[in-house]
Amino acid sequence: MNNITDLKTVRLSDDSCAVVILDQTRLPAEESYLSLVTAEDIWDAIYKLKVRGAPAIGVAAAYGMYVCSRQIQASSYSDFYTEFHRIKEYLAGARPTAVNLVAALNRMEEVVLDNSSEDVSTLVQLLHDEAQAIRTEDAAACRRIGEHCLSLLRPGMGLLTHCNAGHLAVSEYGTALAPIYLGEERGHGFKVFADETRPLLQGARLTAYELQRAGVDVTLICDNMASAVMQKGWVQAVVVGCDRVAMNGDVANKIGTSGVAVLAYHYGIPFYVLGPTSTVDKQCPDGKSIVIEERDPDEVSEMWYAHRMAPRGVRIYNPAFDVTPYELITAIITEKGIAYSPFEDSLRQ
Ligand code: MRU
Repeated sequence: MNNITDLKTVRLSDDSCAVVILDQTRLPAEESYLSLVTAEDIWDAIYKLKVRGAPAIGVAAAYGMYVCSRQIQASSYSDFYTEFHRIKEYLAGARPTAVNLVAALNRMEEVVLDNSSEDVSTLVQLLHDEAQAIRTEDAAACRRIGEHCLSLLRPGMGLLTHCNAGHLAVSEYGTALAPIYLGEERGHGFKVFADETRPLLQGARLTAYELQRAGVDVTLICDNMASAVMQKGWVQAVVVGCDRVAMNGDVANKIGTSGVAVLAYHYGIPFYVLGPTSTVDKQCPDGKSIVIEERDPDEVSEMWYAHRMAPRGVRIYNPAFDVTPYELITAIITEKGIAYSPFEDSLRQ
């Protein structure tokens, strides 16, 4: 297998002056990296999905806060914190649904609040360490998520996934794709179906790309083909990521995930949601409380097409995520273990 970790989704530049991301809007045609230096660069990269996937945007925002903190000109703690908080709130507004963005920013802010007696250069160093810790924890969590899920799968199984919850969406390996990579290393030979994932084609552009690059047996299908491959008996489990998990087990993930869950339920196929515990939102009781990001209508009508594919002026609804009700979920798999229904109890444990 090609080493997938050669691709660096998000990292700090060697001189610590920039956040370096693999520009995911240019994949699969080109593996090119972008250096983000200002808060505006970082906001823009997150908003435009140059870096995307719930854990990866958390890591990018944490590194971003560190890089921006280095640039703050402040002679007192209070001046430093005022500017820090302004940038933090600005970055938090880039995308509303994935809890990891705000969770990572809050962790960075706590470092500043907990060390109000330190000088600015010490604060900046502590922010560096916290951002690195967020990245390291993310990578370690993904490995453990992969191991837990692998314990539920058998060699040779057909697996279906939606969107991209792979190496490109996290610091290393992925969440939903982690068991596939670990299985590949151990010769499990999974056969993966990747939904293309309209409208932004994360499945076609990113999942198919990274699995193929790693030598995994992957077949790309349009979103509306999922029922057909399930009906043929080619899928024995569905593995998807998550952007926010409510305490009752409802899960927000890429638009179309709930439809896949309905199909899996109909055909009696286990539906596994994989994500780090940082994606579980303790403040969120159920899916109705999750804010769903709505995006530019052009993403539906013309983005990725050679020319516009819908009549001008037609009304377009473009929610980026949907909520899969807990009743359709077989298990939620985190780095701490496998949670089954009733999720109120298992998630708390
Ligand atoms: O809009 P995106 O591409 O950021 O959406 C990504 C997803 O929905 C992923 O499944 C989710 O963030 C989990 S990534 C490990």
